[in-house]
Amino acid sequence: MDSFQIAIDGPAGSGKSSISKALANKLGFKYLDTGAMYRAVTLEALEKGINLENEKEYSFLQNFQLKFVNQRIHIRDVDVSKEIRMKRVTENVSLVSSLNVVRKKMVELQKQFALNCNCILDGRDIGTVVLPKAKLKIYLTADIEERAKRRIKESYKNESLENMINKIKIRDYKDSSRDNSPLIISENAMVIDTTYLTEKEVLEKILKEYNKRK
Ligand code: DC
Repeated sequence: MDSFQIAIDGPAGSGKSSISKALANKLGFKYLDTGAMYRAVTLEALEKGINLENEKEYSFLQNFQLKFVNQRIHIRDVDVSKEIRMKRVTENVSLVSSLNVVRKKMVELQKQFALNCNCILDGRDIGTVVLPKAKLKIYLTADIEERAKRRIKESYKNESLENMINKIKIRDYKDSSRDNSPLIISENAMVIDTTYLTEKEVLEKILKEYNKRK
């Protein structure tokens, strides 16, 4: 059987990673959280103290040891799954992920990961750039207030709703307006607004579509 690739894109807090993980478990597919990869690069760049805006200072990417072990992300065999969710990473990841040198390397690794495997990749440019031939493309979205609430519940318990809404607005703007692979809805993607849907309902919709195409 041909391999079946699923691309899941959408803005911050739209439910991409929980849905992708649940779907991967259900279908027995491999899963790659590409946002976590951009976060790991940002963490490394911050640790190295480089000028984040200068593409020339990213030469460390040539030998960057990035690995996923049981859906946890490791840099040089150290689990950094928690560190990549820290505020300083979140506040800088839009800048770092807008750089050509970073995107080129990450997209190359993502394509390699997806080669000949049944897999789900989630991110911002999966359906448009990384896997333009994916058999199923999903674009998840939700109202900004709902997305902010989810982010607070997930990782930023001390943040006020108002602050989180503002931060997401800024990130939405940066992720959608950059020149390089901006967040846009891929032409043939199925758009699902998850604002009033449970995870189970979203999964059912995706599975129905998957069953039609497999
Ligand atoms: O999904 P996330 O919030 O963990 O993603 C972190 C950042 O990485 C997000 O602000 C945009 C960027 N990103 C990207 O540019 N392309 C992807 N495929 C995934 C994430």
